[in-house]
Amino acid sequence: MDFFKRVMRILKGIKCVAITCLQWGDTGKGKIVDALASWAHVIARGTGGANAGHTICLGGAEHIFHLVPSGILHDREGKVNIIGSGVALDPGIIGEELALLDSAGLPYNNLAISHRAHLVLPQHLLLDRLKERRIGRLGTTGRGIGPLYTDQVARVGLRVNDILDEVTFAKKLIENLVDKRRLLTLEDPDVIKEILHHPHLGSGRFWSAGSFLNVDEIVAAYMEHAERLRDMIRDTDAMMRQAMSQGKNVLLEGAQGNWLSVRDGSYPFVTSSDCSVHGLADGVGLDMRDIGLSLGIAKFPYMTRVGEGPFPTELGGEESAKWCGMKGVNREKEREDYGTLSVNDTDQFLQGIGIRQAGGEYGATTKRPRRTGWLDLPMLRTSMRRSGNNVIFTKPDVLDDCGVIRICDHYIFTGGSYRVGEKTWHDGDVIEFAPREIEVMERCEPHYVEFAGWKTPISGITEARDLPANFRAILDFVVEQTGANPRMISVGADREQTIVMD
Ligand code: IMP
Repeated sequence: MDFFKRVMRILKGIKCVAITCLQWGDTGKGKIVDALASWAHVIARGTGGANAGHTICLGGAEHIFHLVPSGILHDREGKVNIIGSGVALDPGIIGEELALLDSAGLPYNNLAISHRAHLVLPQHLLLDRLKERRIGRLGTTGRGIGPLYTDQVARVGLRVNDILDEVTFAKKLIENLVDKRRLLTLEDPDVIKEILHHPHLGSGRFWSAGSFLNVDEIVAAYMEHAERLRDMIRDTDAMMRQAMSQGKNVLLEGAQGNWLSVRDGSYPFVTSSDCSVHGLADGVGLDMRDIGLSLGIAKFPYMTRVGEGPFPTELGGEESAKWCGMKGVNREKEREDYGTLSVNDTDQFLQGIGIRQAGGEYGATTKRPRRTGWLDLPMLRTSMRRSGNNVIFTKPDVLDDCGVIRICDHYIFTGGSYRVGEKTWHDGDVIEFAPREIEVMERCEPHYVEFAGWKTPISGITEARDLPANFRAILDFVVEQTGANPRMISVGADREQTIVMD
């Protein structure tokens, strides 16, 4: 049976599907969204911004997008792609993506951008990068996300609608810059100048020797963006409500992951939007009751994280975190220094690199190496409490050659005691649900259950009954331990390489 027919089995009777990640992002949402986009009439994004990056493989060619919804590549009569009000919109980046589509001859006249989405401005990228240089604590993507959402809650943000009127835009821009200019006087002007000469910041176009940021140039640039985007700026919340009331098939595309959510994640090592399924519904103008099927994506049986923050099952622990956080480390540098490593290396740090290389785990947005570790069931259990238990497991084929698979079934608390709310954790306590408090997570020692690997290629399998027995044993254990209901297993980059579970 072809893939589309198999997917229809799980979408029967459903009108609105949400896809979010249950881990730290980069779990292959793009492929699943792309696969379900053939079914959807409306595909909408509601959180994050150009910090996300999804790679979609179509006909052998790879497409990397940061802002445009994955469904844009589906050319279907009446299909609509929406960038919702919760998204941090960098008009320069979306302009570049649309130009890429133009040059590939791909149509996008079905794209709508919320007039209420907040606008990423040069000062957001500048402040993000200054802070990372000074403190360097979070390892952000440098796309201005934190400062943008800070402005939103501080009630000084600019919204997409503001670029439709030059006078309004200029007035709000000047107001937005008042406090920032004062703050910038505390920074090293040479560093400000250097950052503002980065290609992501217009290669110096916005730099002003006297006042750091040149208002006239920012206004001019954003009015140029307005020309390109004008016809796409719409009341997308109203469009979403209308689509729901007309019984259209709606697909909500998450960004980042549950554990990066500013509300639900390992705060403060998170992004600045609520990228849980709740934040996603909100960011497209819907609410949870509208969602008929919430699908959570998780890598299996390994997982990854980009940027700083605790990662209990990380292969190579501190050594790995330090290496992956070093400036200049990327796919090429890693291969130069270590060659090509095996997923079975007996040294954990090197095994982590082997898995990264086998899975191509390097950031689509930043090119940074993603830290690798074993599947963490306490994290999965915590995520499922808010997202529900319908899960899609991705990328197991990366470990086809792996001899021993380890699954973390619980943590043991170590390092004295620590109180969270009314609960105090003590040395030796068993933790089954991952805590969101980093002070606890940092003291969690993972407990593993070992399984023999399946040691056979699984990328060609399309039916669950054909999965190897050793694979099945691991999957059954995860299901029994967490209550997950696996709906699909993705076993390769191609859309067809997806097992739809009965
Ligand atoms: P920001 O979103 O750029 O502020 O980055 C905050 C944290 O979220 C950093 O640790 C980033 O590496 C991480 N992050 C942001 N976007 C993504 C993503 O799409 N995938 C994985 N990690 C991300």
